[in-house]
Amino acid sequence: MDVVIVPTAADVGTYAADVVAARIAQEPRTVLGVATGSSPVGIYRELARRRAAGSLDPTHLTCFALDEYVGLAPDHPRSYAAYLDQEVARPLGLPSGRVWVPEASRTDLEAAAEEHEQAIAAAGGIDLQILGIGTNGHIGFNEPISALSSRTRVAALSAQTRTDNARSFDGPDAVPTHCLTQGLGTILESRRVLLVAQGERKAAAVAAAVEGPVAARCPASVLQFHPRATLVLDEAAASALTLENHHRPVPDRGDGAVPGVSAPAS
Ligand code: GLP
Repeated sequence: MDVVIVPTAADVGTYAADVVAARIAQEPRTVLGVATGSSPVGIYRELARRRAAGSLDPTHLTCFALDEYVGLAPDHPRSYAAYLDQEVARPLGLPSGRVWVPEASRTDLEAAAEEHEQAIAAAGGIDLQILGIGTNGHIGFNEPISALSSRTRVAALSAQTRTDNARSFDGPDAVPTHCLTQGLGTILESRRVLLVAQGERKAAAVAAAVEGPVAARCPASVLQFHPRATLVLDEAAASALTLENHHRPVPDRGDGAVPGVSAPAS
């Protein structure tokens, strides 16, 4: 794992957007895995800003969502399909149909899960997967004790996740109980992973993912098996890391673009 610690939450978005933009410049037809939630919003807005400024053309991207709430139609305002339309498809100028979201309002959910896997495979696999992390260490909606080799499937949301996500709904009871989510095995197949985390409330999950054992109780710890996983953290999200010397930046660019970022440790 490469762990990059930047001073502020805003720096996380800028740094991670640099990584995504560099990939798009290299390969405009990049297949991008797009997380939802608050963590990646800074990335998407920075990419949109660069598009508006004419320094980036993201319009050839194909995007795949990690997950969706069971029972929410794509036009439901709290669906991840709606989120991705608002934060990714429109601001980045993607034609309709270029952001694939698991179809979790269908009745045949197992078929919908399988079709999401097949669509990813048909696109040639995910080149760069953006991830956030839940306070309980989930990635996508792979809650603790998810199988480390799991595939896209129906899964139950934990009480903690429903409480965490209640801010987007009318309280925890209004949060759907189930989701369709890419599995941990699916996520591990992406060629590159970029996980972003900001704030102290993510610090314990980040420490478990980076320094804990690889264990289903912290699903993000499975990224220790990924050959190209980069975590971009602000100081608060990094505050529970103890192996300080191992967590100085090993940035992709190493050019000091983000103020306060140290030189690579090696
Ligand atoms: C959500 C999503 C995850 C996201 C995580 C953190 O429930 N399913 O993909 O990374 O929880 O959310 P946030 O970034 O809002 O803290």
